[in-house]
Amino acid sequence: MATVTVKGGEALRGRVDVSGSKNAALPIIFATIITRGESVIHRLPDIGDVRVAIRIIESLGARCERSGSSLLVNTERMTFRRPEDSLVSAIRASTYLLGASLARFGRAYIQSFGGCDFCTRPIDLHLLACHSFGADVGGGVIISRGLLGAGIRFPKVSVGATVNALLLAATAKGKSRIENFAREPHIFNLIDYLRSAGADITVTDDAITVGGRELVGGEVTVEGDPIEAGSYAALSALTGGNITVIGVTPKSVDAFFAPLTEAGAVLDTEEGITLRTLPKRQVTIVAEPYPGFPTDLQPISAPLLAAASGGTVEDRVWQGRFGYLAALASFGVCYHAYPTSAEIFPSRLRAADTVAPDLRGGAAALLLALAARGESRIYSSEIIARGYENIEKKLRSLGAEIRIDD
Ligand code: UD1
Repeated sequence: MATVTVKGGEALRGRVDVSGSKNAALPIIFATIITRGESVIHRLPDIGDVRVAIRIIESLGARCERSGSSLLVNTERMTFRRPEDSLVSAIRASTYLLGASLARFGRAYIQSFGGCDFCTRPIDLHLLACHSFGADVGGGVIISRGLLGAGIRFPKVSVGATVNALLLAATAKGKSRIENFAREPHIFNLIDYLRSAGADITVTDDAITVGGRELVGGEVTVEGDPIEAGSYAALSALTGGNITVIGVTPKSVDAFFAPLTEAGAVLDTEEGITLRTLPKRQVTIVAEPYPGFPTDLQPISAPLLAAASGGTVEDRVWQGRFGYLAALASFGVCYHAYPTSAEIFPSRLRAADTVAPDLRGGAAALLLALAARGESRIYSSEIIARGYENIEKKLRSLGAEIRIDD
């Protein structure tokens, strides 16, 4: 178990180059399974979840070779096996095995898929996708005797189920149409990869249309991580510093900054992104599917609200995603949590020791530790490294006094 020790209270300054996006990298790694050949993924972040995803595809016979921030994946000799439960249960993205394994081998195991434990995380929409393309679901396995193109309209928008539907449609026989799909930028990054591997995909406002084909290897560059970008931008305002975030398209973080600037925070996007000040008035945040406020940044927004004039946070993606607030309370954050929202009050921040509750909640605790004067410790901090590349090095380059002990 790792522990982060921080001496906080200093204004942090400098430039930080964000890494490739975790949520874009993971579906692309699993998507290589449905291709036969060699793929290259550039700007792949070296983070915990990516390492586990690579180990999973290697355990199925993929040959992976890292060269700098690029990964070469050869999927020629993959065979159907049950991936180790300990790996599958370590990351949520292992749900992409449902579509990928079914598309490549005609079979997939329903295992105990992992991920942050902030809510119940059902897989009914993933199974609906498998079933729609002609697979039989039951008894812990999914079997298909040849996937057939299908029309599917999801009753609810899901990033993961959209990924699985794309993987199935890309190799199914005939045309498919996917409606009410997730529109997150990382879905389009996955489509870039699939197209480079030969997939026939058209996206309109109403639907994704896919013509099934045999796919070969492809090449793609992972987009900059909007969640990492938002986290460093928040740190700038929280510490009263001047951090310029580069390497991400401003559009992908628009929704995060919109409620903050509406409440008077000053954002500078001249050369990179700098959040210059905290919001001046109460903030109202509603996390929703893209293009709404990103749910993964709602825990990151809580320290900003607490350090400023407070506000309310509602999450319509993961309704109960407020357990992390108990860890933030040790830093002085005052709040009242309701079943699907929380009220955050202006708070006097202080240094504290706490346990990282989950990936983004842990990152929020780290922001508070850096902002509050004095020494703070965050235990079980390895969970933060699941989503932030080189966090110790990047924070030190901004002037932070930080040490991570494994
Ligand atoms: C992905 C991201 C995660 C992010 C989330 C929402 C990865 C590895 N994870 O998670 O960081 O928080 O998108 O942007 O990329 N749902 C169902 N049935 C299902 C699947 C989902 O009801 O079968 C519901 C969920 O309970 C939730 C909502 O749909 O309320 C959204 O979930 P989804 O978009 O699927 O999130 P993930 O893909 O798991």
